[in-house]
Amino acid sequence: MNDLIEFDSKRQVFHLHNGNISYLFSVEEGGTLCHLYFGRRVQKYHGELKYPRVDRGFSGNLPGSLDRTFSRDTLPKEYSGAGEMDYHTPAAVIRRNDGSNALMLRYSGYSIEDGKPELEGLPAAWVEKPEEAQTLTVTLKDEPTGLLYDLLYTIYRDVDIITRSVRVRNAGNEDVFLEKAASLQIDFTDRDFDSICLPGAHANERHPERQRVGYGIQKFGSIRGTSSHQMNPFLALADRKADEYSGDVYGFAMVYSGNHSFEVERDQIDQTHLVIGINDYNFSWKLEPGSAFQTPEVLMTYSDRGFDRMSQSFHRIIRDRIVRSRFAHEERPILVNNWEATYFDFDEEKLKTIVDDAKDLGIEMFVLDDGWFGHRDDDNSSLGDWKVYERKFPSGLGHFADYVHEKGLGFGLWFEPEMISYDSDLYRDHPEYLMHVPGREPSPSRNQYVLDLTRKEVVDNLFEQVSEILESGRIDYVKWDMNRHLSDVYSASLPKDRQGEVYHRYVLGLYDLMERLTEKFPDVLFEGCSGGGGRFDAGMAYYMPQIWTSDNTDAVSRLTIQYGTSLVYPISMTTAHVSAIPNHQTGRKTPFETRGNAAMSAVFGYELDLTRMSQEDRDKVKEQVSCYKDIRNLVQYGTFHRLKSPVDTNQAAWMFVSDDRRDVCVMTFQVLASAQPSLTKTKLTGLDPELEYENLETGEVFGGDELMELGFYDPVVHQDYTSKMYRFRAL
Ligand code: GLA
Repeated sequence: MNDLIEFDSKRQVFHLHNGNISYLFSVEEGGTLCHLYFGRRVQKYHGELKYPRVDRGFSGNLPGSLDRTFSRDTLPKEYSGAGEMDYHTPAAVIRRNDGSNALMLRYSGYSIEDGKPELEGLPAAWVEKPEEAQTLTVTLKDEPTGLLYDLLYTIYRDVDIITRSVRVRNAGNEDVFLEKAASLQIDFTDRDFDSICLPGAHANERHPERQRVGYGIQKFGSIRGTSSHQMNPFLALADRKADEYSGDVYGFAMVYSGNHSFEVERDQIDQTHLVIGINDYNFSWKLEPGSAFQTPEVLMTYSDRGFDRMSQSFHRIIRDRIVRSRFAHEERPILVNNWEATYFDFDEEKLKTIVDDAKDLGIEMFVLDDGWFGHRDDDNSSLGDWKVYERKFPSGLGHFADYVHEKGLGFGLWFEPEMISYDSDLYRDHPEYLMHVPGREPSPSRNQYVLDLTRKEVVDNLFEQVSEILESGRIDYVKWDMNRHLSDVYSASLPKDRQGEVYHRYVLGLYDLMERLTEKFPDVLFEGCSGGGGRFDAGMAYYMPQIWTSDNTDAVSRLTIQYGTSLVYPISMTTAHVSAIPNHQTGRKTPFETRGNAAMSAVFGYELDLTRMSQEDRDKVKEQVSCYKDIRNLVQYGTFHRLKSPVDTNQAAWMFVSDDRRDVCVMTFQVLASAQPSLTKTKLTGLDPELEYENLETGEVFGGDELMELGFYDPVVHQDYTSKMYRFRAL
């Protein structure tokens, strides 16, 4: 039953819809796919509201056509090829052996199926049952080369998400090079948009940036070989007046962890053209006859109620239909990580004292960070040698893991599998595994180098080494790090006409490795990391249900980082730890409570030396741990709403509400104090207006409508960096 996707064969119109959203496009002259609409649900498209035909100078026409009013240059389209009469930044660019790049994609057929096919070798949204979604495949053909472009669209029934990707098949008889193969294009008419992206840096990830979409092409992306701290693979286009709770917002997020690009173009007639996919920088994929290339997937959502609703859709799809781990809906353990406590300076005896304290304080897992392997005493050696450092663990890692378990804690371990140090046995045995350009000295970063994951033997080697460690003792958790970006991108195992494939093949190799390890160790909780949140994307979420949000653990910095992260990613994916003051990244001293509230707004833990804390702080840790255990389910799996943005302001606030709207937790933060403060209020959302809610701390009772409409006054505190947690429960 095609109840989510219809094809009107008379008018040649495709209509994808669920209860809330509609997506419409049609087949027009010359087999051109014309984008008609994406937005709030319409019942039926009658075929009359078509894009007007206008004869425009310098926007040419179809080959062989005398119709001067039809131009692929102006028509809003579903997929633009280079080399034809369409001057927008293209979605597809090819190169043939004769040097030509012409491509003329024409509609050649479609199919509709229940459910959603897997994308070979790539992470993607999935379905549990075929009734959850339907998939439309529309095929475009380029006659002279025999190339077929399958545009894949899946619409979900119960969440406002359409996924898109493209599969290119070579049904011709010559090699063709794909120089650009975008996953998604969408063209809008008569819109004046702002774009919202999530730029950042190491220790300063994902702070929202909003700007008007102007003329020309603006490209947001990464060419670092990973999704990067510098620009998250996400973009929203929003009405200029859209805010958290009103206005049209279109959100796009890639399910991919490598180079990406989001190109936005405002054209000569004020149409907005968006193209998303693998970044075409140093990309060239040789497609032999009979072979296919699958692009990564893009999640696309429409909200008629501002950013909040966009985030709800992203959170639901990522949490419920991207993450596959058995921990997807399980409460995550409260952990203590020894990194900021000891850095490289530890041994088993020293760690045991932290473990003992963790046990006393109610913490549930101990994570052994960097420095337990090879002969690693600083960051200059041993990457690639995943063998325990005997000086630090004379009785072996299994022995220490047993100690941690005897105390009743889980045991976690840090790895950085994708890297190699010059000073390592792996390098001495296999210098060819280190990614480099022959005849050139590769560039170090943190004095380390990248392994060539395009080579199967490298992936196999890492699979063996990591497996051996995970089998050597009871290991419940893995923190998977990646502490530099790619450079010297070349693989000696590939021929010269395939070097443009290395960036993407690296990511495919990584996915293959993670696929094999997560399949072999389904009971290990994996946490992704890349110098903090340098690879915080939906592609990683497919393998790893949680990701270290940032190396910056300062509570004030975290407000913006976590706020930005929440635009796309669910709280259950976002980890945050309380650390010592002065903060190691910013030098700032914030109250323990503020650090706690910021970290308890995510998947919670500690990153400090528990053995060196005052009794007062230890008591606070105990309190926090027990408080978090109480709110954990609500925080990790309730609905998250942003209330006040910390971006360029002095306050932040957000809240968590349970599905039945009876249980509520609110966190408010004030950055700087002032002598004569203006009074501010926090207004809640998502409550039941008919219910009465009790403040669990004070016993005061409020109507749900009162909390949402009147709001409560924020406390006046003459101190910097303060925070307050409120808990309400319906009577
Ligand atoms: C990265 C991580 C940190 C820590 C160090 C160890 O920076 O983000 O949390 O694991 O590596 O070297």
